[in-house]
Amino acid sequence: MKVLNFGSLNYDYVYKVDHMILAGETMDSYSLETHFGGKGLNQSVALAKAGVPVKHAGMVGEDGQAFLDFCTENGVDAEYIRKVQGKSGHTIIQLDKNAQNSILLYGGSNRAITKEYVDEVLGHFEKGDILLLQNEVNLMPYIIDTAYGRGMQIVLNPSPYNEALDGCDMGKIAVFLVNEIEGKQITGETEPERILDVMMSRFPDARIVLTLGGDGVVYRDKEQTCRQGIFKVQAVDTTAAGDTFTGYFIAGMLEELPIPDILRRCAKASAMAVSKMGAAESIPTVEEVKAAKLDA
Ligand code: RIB
Repeated sequence: MKVLNFGSLNYDYVYKVDHMILAGETMDSYSLETHFGGKGLNQSVALAKAGVPVKHAGMVGEDGQAFLDFCTENGVDAEYIRKVQGKSGHTIIQLDKNAQNSILLYGGSNRAITKEYVDEVLGHFEKGDILLLQNEVNLMPYIIDTAYGRGMQIVLNPSPYNEALDGCDMGKIAVFLVNEIEGKQITGETEPERILDVMMSRFPDARIVLTLGGDGVVYRDKEQTCRQGIFKVQAVDTTAAGDTFTGYFIAGMLEELPIPDILRRCAKASAMAVSKMGAAESIPTVEEVKAAKLDA
């Protein structure tokens, strides 16, 4: 079974700030760091660091060679990544004193995906293979329909949630990884229990992972509900915590670990990611996760 992640690659420009800038305000920042990010790239790196051979598909701009090198250095197969004219995707990230962030996205080459490219990449995959998606590339409905038509199992992290997802047939998704905001946007419900109830009634064969920030995570499928709290760490940068969770969750699924064991390992890996600066670079290897002693 092969694993493909079709997703974004962003240069993250991370500015440490006193507080998130307000409308009309001009404010100094304390520092600027540039990191490799993009929900797509982060999740591919998390899969690779969790021990899963993963192929990444997506577009980088003329300034994008560093992404290809970074993928190779981090065990992500970059064979399908295309270089196109124009700029790669990037973000402006404000990181405040509480390690919270706000992210402004510039899609750049992440939004240059064509139907021909989707057909060409997905043509290498078949029934049972896994496709992981986020929502930072264009043509999401087409990618989902084509992959589903080929019998692939589709895992969706609908982040950031926006109108592009309205055209997607969510009935074709095998695994959802959502936070409370995305859960609300999909179901119209705010309470975690209600979000899970409504999602299960709409997508009865799906597996649903609902992350709840400081309250941990709840997993539900038609046979079981499992919960996991967070591990306590000194957070310095929360960017990519969810992406780490997603990659490690798929890795655990592929290893056929019991769900409570998967959730525990995901929570630990995410906690380790928030205790380091950066996005893709902050994701720990599975050996580091196993060796770490963290307080629950
Ligand atoms: O999930 C974190 C990521 O979201 C960042 O790396 C940034 O690039 C945005 O895509």
